[in-house]
Formats: sequence, structure tokens, C-alpha cells
Amino acid sequence: MNVRLGDLKLSEQEKKLFHSLIDSAMFSEGKYTKEFEGKWASYVGTKYCATFNSGTSAMMAGFAALQNSKKYRVKKGSKVITTPLTYIATINSVLTTGMEPVFADVRDDFNIDPEKIAELLEESKDTNEFSVLLPVHLLGYVAEMDKLNAMAKKYGLVVFEDAAEAHGSKYKGKKVGSLSTLSDFSFYMAHAVCAGEYGTINTSDEELKNLCESLKGNGRMCCCTVEQRASKKCPHVVEEKSGVDPRYFSSIVGYNFKATEFQALLGLTQIAKIDETIRKRQENVRYLNEGLAKYSDKLQLPMFSREVSYLCYPLVIKDASINRKKLREKLAASGVESRPLFGCAPIHQPAYSYMKQKYQGKLPKAEFFGSRGFYIGCHQYLTQEELDYAIKIMGEAIKHASN
Ligand SMILES: Cc1ncc(COP(=O)(O)O)c(C=O)c1O
Repeated sequence: MNVRLGDLKLSEQEKKLFHSLIDSAMFSEGKYTKEFEGKWASYVGTKYCATFNSGTSAMMAGFAALQNSKKYRVKKGSKVITTPLTYIATINSVLTTGMEPVFADVRDDFNIDPEKIAELLEESKDTNEFSVLLPVHLLGYVAEMDKLNAMAKKYGLVVFEDAAEAHGSKYKGKKVGSLSTLSDFSFYMAHAVCAGEYGTINTSDEELKNLCESLKGNGRMCCCTVEQRASKKCPHVVEEKSGVDPRYFSSIVGYNFKATEFQALLGLTQIAKIDETIRKRQENVRYLNEGLAKYSDKLQLPMFSREVSYLCYPLVIKDASINRKKLREKLAASGVESRPLFGCAPIHQPAYSYMKQKYQGKLPKAEFFGSRGFYIGCHQYLTQEELDYAIKIMGEAIKHASN
């Protein structure tokens, strides 16, 4: 038996939509992309949504948009406060857009600790060096947004939510991704809305949305739809005679971060089922919690909440005599997929080893979760038989990995 981290099943009806897309030969951004953007903006509760070929490229475009914005004027080289316990894309997107990550430790819910951010800012000689606060709603758990927004206001920081893993998680009744100036989502495998590879920036700021549209098309002048441009209705055509076609003239330096209609269509089939997906995952977390309660002296089980949209089922090894590598090997040998809990970036990630000395001993919680945490699947297609099997194998793996 295999207990996978994620899965995706399409109905015959949904497959037919892909066949018609193939027949149409209209693969680059078009009607499905627009439909996805409209539906995802309305689901999250923002005015706008711009799509990208991944969550990572969305984040990079988000930072580039802030740097190009007349309103926010985020300076290249300025500091971004973020969490060390995250998928590496968060930090890569900061560095690859010329910003400097600064880490504050996490709390027991895996999310950045507002108290640690306050300490960092209070101890800083020049708070003007900081420009962005980048919380991550890790694995679906929501960061303490009221405190973070209040701190950002005090110090003049832009809040950029990394909501990649938290589709539909709620904070005080509002969906994550709508609680700050801009946010990103990833639609990679195992995420509640899966599109293979896909990402968005969500915002209610029109300037940022237009900049994102432009940046993903190599900084093109125009963010009209292809149809408008092809029929020469574009309001940005400078002058008919000048020969400036906004599709081929750039007002800013950008990237090609566009995706295809395939991703948009796949994403749309999943948005249609998101409420059921979230509910099913919550039920699975509850079931696994009940089944694994007998090991709660050895493993920290995930906190259950109806406000959390679960990416996976996270566990932390509390008992020091249990070896994570051995435990995961046993799970793998029995067909239960697992992943380590990302690691504490400056301490555990080889790419960021140059920061190790600076942060050694300063991020104890992220180090602990990063070295003792791991996760298994809780996705919507798991059967009761598979859940029972995962519970049984976990018991065997604990025994196998104990010294
Ligand atoms: C927290 C976080 N940020 C950013 C990303 C980047 O997304 P992608 O893998 O779509 O590039 C991910 C991916 O899952 C993520 O988990």
C-alpha cells in the first residue's frame, strides 16, 4: 500500500476540457488564465490576482513590483524580515531580487514570532534599513497577522504574506492572502488547489497588480488582454505612427514568468472543489490525531483547527532517542511517503551556510523543528484503509528508529 503526500484525480468531464483545449491550440495565456485570476482573487478576497509559472516566480515578481512601485519604493539591498523555517523558495526569492533576508525565530505553531521581530527591530541601530515583513503561513498554520501588521505600521514596513501553503486558511474570519499589501500562493503538487506548477500574487493595489502583469511579460508596457492588443484597442499604444507596439516595448526590466492555459484549467478544476478538499483534509488530520494519540509522548501531533487548511500532516519528534532519518527510512520502505520539515535555512541549508556563524544558537525553535520535524500526507483522496495503515506503520517506525 502507498500513502502518498498528494494526489490528483480528474473526472472524465474534466479530461474532456483538456481535450478541447488541445484541439483549440490556444495554449498561451488567454480565457482560462483570466478566469482563474478572477476566481482566485474572489476566493481569497483581494481585488486582483496575477498568475505566474510558479510560486517562486510570483514571489520574485512581487519583490520586483515593490521595487518598481512609486507608492512603496522598496529599495534593492534593503532588509526583509522573515522566518528561517520555510520552504527555501521564500528565501531564494528575497535574495534573487537583490534583497537581504534577516531571520526571527518561530513559535510553537511553526510561524514567525512577533516578539522576536520586535526585539530585532528594537535592537537595530537603523530601522530604515528594513523594508518588508514576510511572514509565511507554514503548512496552512496562520501567522499572528494583527501583531505583524501593527509592527509593520510602526516601523513603516510593507507586509508581504507568503501564503503558498495555506489556500483557504482563515484568520479572524478572513482568508490568508488578503491580510496584507500583497501575498503569494503556490499551486504545486499536494497543495489544496493543485495545478502542477503555478503561482499567484494577490493584492488589492492596482499599481502592484499592473506591475506584476508587466514584469511577467519582460516588463512590457501594456497589461491589456491579448485580444485587445491584437485588435489595436490598447490604451497604451503611444502613437499609431511611432510604431510603438506595447507588446514589444518595455517600460521596466522584467522576466518571462508566464504560465499556460493548461495550468489555469487544471487550477480551475481544483478551485471548484476547494471547500470539500479542505474539509476532507481536516477530517484526515483529526483521524490521524486520534490514531496516533498513543504516541503523543514521543511525537508532537499537529494542532487541529477548522481555520487551518492543511497542506500535510506535520509531526515533531519529541523523544531524543528517536532518529528521524531511521524513522523516515522505515516509513519509505513501507510505502508511507514523508518529507523533512524544511530545515532552519541559515543553519541547515547548504546554500546559506555562509550565514551559519551569524545565526548559530540564535534560532533555537526553528533549529529544533528543522531537525526533528517531518510530515506525511493528509490529502483528500486518502481512504480510511490508507489512514489506518499509516497509523500502524508509524508505530512500527517509532520502534525501529528508537535507540
Ligand atoms: C512557503 C512556500 N513559499 C514559496 C513556495 C514556492 O512555490 P513553487 O514551488 O510553486 O515555486 C512554496 C512551494 O510550495 C512554499 O511552500
